[in-house]
Amino acid sequence: MDFVIVGGGIAGLRAAIGLASAGRVVVLTKSDPTESNTGHAQGGIAAAIGDDDSPQLHAADTMRAGDGLCDAEAVRVLVENGPAYVRELIEWGTRFDRDGRGAVALGREAAHSVRRVLHAGDATGREIGRVLWDRVHALGSVETIDHALVTDVLKDGRAAAGVAYIDGSGIRREVRAAATLLATGGAGRIFRETTNPPVATGDGIALAYLAGARVADLEFVQFHPTALNRAGAPRFLISEALRGEGARLVNDRGDPFMSRYHQDGDLAPRDVVARSIVREAERTGGAIFLTLAHLDAAYVTGRFPTIAAMCREIGLDLARDPIPVGPAAHYVMGGVETDEWGRTSLPGLYAAGEVACTGVHGANRLASNSLLEGLVFGARAASAMQQNPQPAPLKADRVIVHGLEGTHRTAAATVAGADERLPPDRRGWGPASDEMRFGREPSPEEIRDLMWRRVGLFRSRDGLADAVSALDAAAAAKPHDAATRNLVVVAKLIASAALRREESRGGHFRADFPKRDDIHWKVHLVDQHA
Ligand code: SIN
Repeated sequence: MDFVIVGGGIAGLRAAIGLASAGRVVVLTKSDPTESNTGHAQGGIAAAIGDDDSPQLHAADTMRAGDGLCDAEAVRVLVENGPAYVRELIEWGTRFDRDGRGAVALGREAAHSVRRVLHAGDATGREIGRVLWDRVHALGSVETIDHALVTDVLKDGRAAAGVAYIDGSGIRREVRAAATLLATGGAGRIFRETTNPPVATGDGIALAYLAGARVADLEFVQFHPTALNRAGAPRFLISEALRGEGARLVNDRGDPFMSRYHQDGDLAPRDVVARSIVREAERTGGAIFLTLAHLDAAYVTGRFPTIAAMCREIGLDLARDPIPVGPAAHYVMGGVETDEWGRTSLPGLYAAGEVACTGVHGANRLASNSLLEGLVFGARAASAMQQNPQPAPLKADRVIVHGLEGTHRTAAATVAGADERLPPDRRGWGPASDEMRFGREPSPEEIRDLMWRRVGLFRSRDGLADAVSALDAAAAAKPHDAATRNLVVVAKLIASAALRREESRGGHFRADFPKRDDIHWKVHLVDQHA
């Protein structure tokens, strides 16, 4: 095999299309081929194609959302190349919504200064996936294997040489390749509450780390403010595009509250909205809702048919009823460190899409930049995979930690007793720490619960230290299957990075260090296996 791609979302498929004329390609998917974060993406794909827009404006919004940690060159590559790749999707048959004049309709989402989001109803990822899969299936040189759980990156000396996987009947197999692309998507399922599908368990991060590649920025997890919050119902995503079209967050008395927390109100940055929802719920002692009752009902159900149907299934009318919402883990900004061509620190190993850390998102991702990142960097990785393998160079603003221990940078100012300012049920979000220690192999549910309560929206040194020692014990119990091993590795990487970073920035909020601290922390934390 010439090329192996792990993952069937937008990054993996766009790469497969780019590689098809250069050799034989195999795409491995963990579950059914179409089951990926891409397929669940509702809001859309951001690109500077509007008359009032420009790549420079898109870059400025992206950098602002990233809260001081975006890689400017990676952002430039994203926003300048994005429009051409999006137009290519349209040429290939992607049916984005059009306005009354037949032009592509652009939606608005939080922290975008103009309308910039191309969408296909509220199922944009599904529509893009449909077009890419159709194209891939028509390519004779691309083979797809589903229900393949990748367990290891194979090595030839220091270089990656393919992957080992367990096939659908439980047999271990190997596929050797000149170039290997990890496009495994996100890790939302590391947390108990998440908008992500079951496949999003961070496998690519664990595989790359265990193979010796550098991983970066893993403390930065984005919690989406508005997942459905009803006991017994799945936490399905209630897209930010609804607030872009005028939906409002209200408390249990029906009062809008976001403007008390941020000048941009309902369209404040995601991390701010997510924390404000929790604070408002604590203040009032009641639930938080999204209301669209003041908007035209036919418009609401026509523009958001998938969400309306999901609401109907649980007896709610999206256009009229208050919809109970709350935060859930949504996106991991960090991942396998790459350069602007998808190259990782290991020769022959590439990463693209959510599994990668290109640096475009910094500490917080701008809405609808994720599909764009997968598209642009999936295509660029395909180009790089056809060249002689080169590792990505180490960038300057990096602090490297070997083996998840050691280098614990401590900021000069610690805020004594800061935890005391947290209401009791947020002081670690859970029971006393001794209940959290695992002296045996923990279940995936126990790990997700631990991560949600200790490494979630509100973090503190005590809670994070508890999580790290519980995960140490979990690792020492040597999980016998690759899926649990990966879960423990990624959970530990996220928790340790969050413990190290003693400031608050973007998606990472430390109650004991509530301010951004550029003097000590305008750096990227990088982990590399000892
Ligand atoms: C949403 O539709 O709210 C999510 C879009 C995104 O995460 O970019």
